[in-house]
Amino acid sequence: AATHKIAVLPGDGIGPEITAACLQVLTEAGRAEGEEFVYTEAPIGGAAIDATGDPYPASTEEICKASDSVLLACIGGYKWDSLPNSQRPEKGLLRLRASLNAFANLRPAVVLPQLADASSLKREVVEGVDILIVRELVGGIYFGEPRGIEVRNGERVGFNTDIYSESEVERIARVAFEAAMKRGKRLCSVEKSNVLEVSQLWKDVVIRLAGEYPEVELSHMYIDNAAMQMIRNPREFDTIVTGNIFGDILSDEASMLTGSLGMLPSASISEPGKPGIYEPVHGSAPDIAGQDKANPLAMVLSAAMMCRYGLNLPKVADRLEAAVTAALDAGYRTGDIMQPGCTLVGCRQMGEVLLNTVTEAAAAK
Ligand code: NAD
Ligand code: IPM
Ligand code: MN
Repeated sequence: AATHKIAVLPGDGIGPEITAACLQVLTEAGRAEGEEFVYTEAPIGGAAIDATGDPYPASTEEICKASDSVLLACIGGYKWDSLPNSQRPEKGLLRLRASLNAFANLRPAVVLPQLADASSLKREVVEGVDILIVRELVGGIYFGEPRGIEVRNGERVGFNTDIYSESEVERIARVAFEAAMKRGKRLCSVEKSNVLEVSQLWKDVVIRLAGEYPEVELSHMYIDNAAMQMIRNPREFDTIVTGNIFGDILSDEASMLTGSLGMLPSASISEPGKPGIYEPVHGSAPDIAGQDKANPLAMVLSAAMMCRYGLNLPKVADRLEAAVTAALDAGYRTGDIMQPGCTLVGCRQMGEVLLNTVTEAAAAK
């Protein structure tokens, strides 16, 4: 039994609601295994702008760096949408990721049997889908310089730079090959090397690294085709490795295979010894914020990834995942995954259901 220091960043919109539900069940799952979590809350995003004027205050950075893991809900909202880029909530999230060098974003998209009919695609297409998207998170066009908006020839132009070094590609590709080795041993590298030099370099490095992983079957796909194939026949994918912006887009797309963005967890991993960030793929859902409608499962499953990969607490992770399964088996659904014959619950009640099942669910497993 041990104590684990968790920096908790509730953020904006539905963030505080899903955080409350998540921490309740995480605490109980830990207690059942004799593990104690010590939470230190800190503001990020819009909440931090309102409190301090900065979307990622130094105090929040210190708390994150001093923690074993960072558990983040989500940031952003209409209120801050017209601020200059450097002062937006999103910039706080990007600075958080960069400050911890959280370069490897693991975004699993698994279709749970209970939710195969909740997808907008046919059950036959999504049944059995189990994809891991490995997204590079601290480079590419999100961070490349030069960037900006300036006047050229009497009109404004906006520009960004998509840039990757060999070492940046190699370290994310290595994470992806290692992940593929533990999964179906198939890796698809997604880029746009028919047009972009940055993608040509990406592909070169991935091919070179493949020599170290002869057991992994490597394929290459252009992003436009990959977006189409994911809807046509998602089961053809096992592990995907891609850059920052393509991974952002593909992971939202993959979420609809699973039924809802509200189901997709993620882990943003740094080098060994540094805390990782565990964060749902979704945003702050301002359209449903404050209405007790949010699905907390993506955050609960992110907490499970934190326990499994960040804290080496697989039994706590098992408990959290079993609680999610049990809640779905019992027919409880938030609005985003609601199906005929199921029981519609809000965020708070879903949290209560998880809390009630987290002890028994694992015992029965
Ligand atoms: P979003 O992910 O917040 O919402 C997209 C749609 O999915 C909305 O209809 C929303 O209601 C729904 N949804 C998302 N999460 C849900 C959940 N847990 N339960 C039920 N429904 C859910 O994306 P958006 O609307 O494009 O962006 C809103 C804000 O969030 C923006 O400010 C954006 O920059 C920010 N954002 C933040 C993150 C993050 O914090 N990691 C990720 C994406 C977007
Ligand atoms: C995500 C989000 C972020 C991203 C934004 C809010 C900066 O969309 O986590 O997927 O693009 O990485
Ligand atoms: Mn996104």
